[in-house]
Amino acid sequence: MSVSSRELMGSRKIPLAMVIIRPAKLFDLPEISRIEVKSFKEKYPRGIFIVFLENNPDTFLVAEYNGKVIGYVMAYLRPDLEGHVMSIAVDPEYRGNGIGRALMVEVIERLIKKGAQYIGLEVRVSNEAAINLYEKLGFRKVKRIIGYYADGEDAYYMMMSVREWGGAS
Ligand SMILES: CC(C)(COP(=O)(O)OP(=O)(O)OC[C@H]1O[C@@H](n2cnc3c(N)ncnc32)[C@H](O)[C@@H]1OP(=O)(O)O)[C@@H](O)C(=O)NCCC(=O)NCCS
Repeated sequence: MSVSSRELMGSRKIPLAMVIIRPAKLFDLPEISRIEVKSFKEKYPRGIFIVFLENNPDTFLVAEYNGKVIGYVMAYLRPDLEGHVMSIAVDPEYRGNGIGRALMVEVIERLIKKGAQYIGLEVRVSNEAAINLYEKLGFRKVKRIIGYYADGEDAYYMMMSVREWGGAS
């Protein structure tokens, strides 16, 4: 990774061992929204988080440090047995500590336990940090989806077969 990429990462260095990954609860939603606002150009309507949490309580996870939510991941199992990662974000101040990776590993393990045969997601073609994270976990770019995002940017659909999942190594 280049120095300029690293400069984009968070300033707070924290021990990953003190970060708890746990299912999200309704009372976490204000903190999740706070991180979403800092992380994405487009926001989901608030109601989406509530409905998503009701339907996917095992695969909507937060990362908590010292009692504070500092990251989240939302995923669900589709009827075609694709475990789909809908969103992941880490508070900008805490990026670069392995929290995004820890959230992904935990949600992938949970999706596999629920029967996922493969894991898929969409990512902006310009999102170097997220693409690196996913590639390190074994995802591959499968196709480019033209104009996927509201601002016209393309997405990569990235996918990993569960057979290739080597765990958190
Ligand atoms: C993508 C994101 C979740 C990564 O979270 P994070 O906690 O900083 O990531 P980690 O510390 O676990 O990093 C894991 C790997 O991701 C990659 N990565 C993370 N930040 C990076 C950056 N700024 N530039 C390049 N690669 C990066 C690296 O490969 C890194 O592994 P390494 O530390 O061994 O080099 C975070 O940058 C984020 O919240 N971005 C905004 C929201 C977003 O874009 N979500 C993805 C939508 S598809």
